[in-house]
Amino acid sequence: MTLSILENSPTKDLLSKLSGLDGPGGNERLKHVVQRVVSDMFKTIEDFDITPVEFWAAMSYLTEVGQRNEFGLLAPGLGIEHFFDLRIDEQEKQAGLEGGTPRTIEGPLYLADAPMSKGEARLDDGNEQGEVLFMEGQVRDTDGKPVAGAVVDVWHANTLGGYSFFDPSQQPWNLRRRIETDAEGRYRFRSILPAGYGCPPDGPTQKLLTQLGRHGQRPAHVHFFVSAPGYRQLTTQINIAGDKFLYDDFAFATRDELIPAITRHADGTDPKIEGLNAPYSEIKFDFTLNREVASLPDTVVVREHAKAA
Ligand code: DHB
Ligand code: FE
Repeated sequence: MTLSILENSPTKDLLSKLSGLDGPGGNERLKHVVQRVVSDMFKTIEDFDITPVEFWAAMSYLTEVGQRNEFGLLAPGLGIEHFFDLRIDEQEKQAGLEGGTPRTIEGPLYLADAPMSKGEARLDDGNEQGEVLFMEGQVRDTDGKPVAGAVVDVWHANTLGGYSFFDPSQQPWNLRRRIETDAEGRYRFRSILPAGYGCPPDGPTQKLLTQLGRHGQRPAHVHFFVSAPGYRQLTTQINIAGDKFLYDDFAFATRDELIPAITRHADGTDPKIEGLNAPYSEIKFDFTLNREVASLPDTVVVREHAKAA
């Protein structure tokens, strides 16, 4: 028999007081949320007979997550960022919005204000011997009309799975650009093929995943924010087909529509591309934006972002 005191009046009284719901003032919504979170915690303590020693181990764990700045990693690892995607997908569906490119999580490694260019850009700084990747496509609305002047904000990892800024061995802004689409809504860039990402092996996120019998790996991917006035911002990624972790992403971000065909040019001797004499890859991918709908929650997620000094 589990010990249950949740329904006793001292516990109910405690929950009402600790959340401030017994009195005026403060933030009403927050009071209700705190009441729920703490009472769910009490229930968990009861149902699993959690000991104080286990509870304080969890507090130390969360302290370490904060100290290592890994909440941005833990949340997607626990599926929470993907759950928010599923919620807004459903809200859009119920509002009749369809036909846009599927969204997927932002992840923790965006850096605001990347260098801007028109129509095209080279993302890599040439310091790394990676396989060259050409990617291009068009931004359109759900009627198929090209969106000129859309901003394709793109970021991805290097051949070791590291992101510039967060990986201080890379030059500032390496593999990060904003590209404004041309009059036909087109963008294109040259870069290098990214490698997949792995959680820091000595960090608290990986520590929990290991206890859950899980790994902390992501397939190779490229991130995008695609935005234009009057349209809902699209947060998405494309995955590199063939990756071992394509359907086994610890952050649950893979979606079938986000795995474009990748064309490998093994001989690498395209005379159109000056100086290129090694195998390279090519991806074509178009983005479809939904029009803004005032009654739906904004797709721009306001959260703390790193800013380059
Ligand atoms: C996560 C997402 C990423 O895109 C990435 O490169 C690393 C981690 C994440 O969701 O935790
Ligand atoms: Fe990433």
